[in-house]
Amino acid sequence: MTPPNPQEPAEVRKKTPSDFIFGKVIGEGSYSTVYLAQDVQTKKEFAIKVLKKKHIIREKKTESVMREKEVLRILGNSCPYFVNLYSTFQDYDSLYFVLTYAKNGELLKHINLHNKFNFECTQYYTAELVLALEYLHSKHIVHRDLKPENILFDHNFHIIITDFGSANIEKTDNQTNNGETDLITALENTRRRRSFVGTAQFVSPEMLQESESSAASDLWALGCIVYQMTCGHMPFVGGNEYFIFQKIIKLEYEFPDGFDKRAQDLVENLLVLEPNRRLGASDVVPYTSIREHQMFEGINWNDLGPPPLLS
Ligand code: ADE
Repeated sequence: MTPPNPQEPAEVRKKTPSDFIFGKVIGEGSYSTVYLAQDVQTKKEFAIKVLKKKHIIREKKTESVMREKEVLRILGNSCPYFVNLYSTFQDYDSLYFVLTYAKNGELLKHINLHNKFNFECTQYYTAELVLALEYLHSKHIVHRDLKPENILFDHNFHIIITDFGSANIEKTDNQTNNGETDLITALENTRRRRSFVGTAQFVSPEMLQESESSAASDLWALGCIVYQMTCGHMPFVGGNEYFIFQKIIKLEYEFPDGFDKRAQDLVENLLVLEPNRRLGASDVVPYTSIREHQMFEGINWNDLGPPPLLS
C-alpha cells in the first residue's frame, strides 16, 4: 500500500487515522466502537466508527458491514434525518467509517432525563421519525434495529438515525419477478436460516417467528418508541429475552393510567401482529393513514418547524 502523499490536497486522497485526533468513546456496539474525532485540518468534529477486522471475520459479519456501507452510500446526504458517511478507510487492523457527529446524543438519554416526554415533544419526534421512515422505505431500506439508542439528536435537536448494521435492502419487484433471483433467494434462505437481528424489546413478531422483515417491522418498532416517549418505559419487558419474546408474540402489554389517548390509538394501530395490518403498511400512497392520524393534528407535514423544548 502506498503511503499518503502530504503534497496531495486532503480532499482527493484517501483519509487515514492520522488525519484525525481521536477523542472519547461515544458509542459501543457488538462489532464496533464509535469515537468522537476531530479532523486535524478543518477542526470539524465527526463520529468515527471503528470496526475490528478480526472480530468481523470471526463473527461472520463481513456481509452486514458491507451492507451498512452500501445503505449509507444510498442515503447519501439527501435526507437530514440520517447519519452521513463522509469517508471510509482502513489500516491493518480496522475499518473506519467517518460519520456525522450528533452532538446531543441518544433519544434514550433524553427520555430518561425527563422520565417521559410531554405530548408536544412526543408528537414532534414521532412526526420526524415518520418522515425519516417514509424516506428510508422509499429507498427500499428497512432499518430493522430502530430503538431510542439508535436515534440521536443533532446540535439543533433534530433526529439523526444511525446504526445500519442490521439493515436490509429489499429486492424490488423487478428483482423478485425474475425467476432466477427468486430461486437464489429461496436457496439462500433454506441454506442458512436467517438469524434474529435487532434488539429484543423492539423486535417485531414476524422477525421472531418467521425471520422475516419488511418496512412494517420498522413500523412495529415505531409503535414501541412512541409508547416509550409517552410513558418513559418500553411496552414489552421481561427478565430475559425468552419472556420478552413471549410477550411480543402474544401482544401482551398494557397502557399505564394517564397515557395520552391519541398516542394510545397510534400505538394500538402500530403494534399489530399481522405486519400488513399495521397503520400505513398497506397504504396506496405510503404512510397517508399515519400522517392523517389524530396524533398529528396541527402538524404541517411540509414544514415541521423547529423542535419544541424537551420536557
Ligand atoms: N454514538 C454513536 N454514534 C454517534 C454519532 N454519530 N454521534 C454521536 N454519538 C454517537
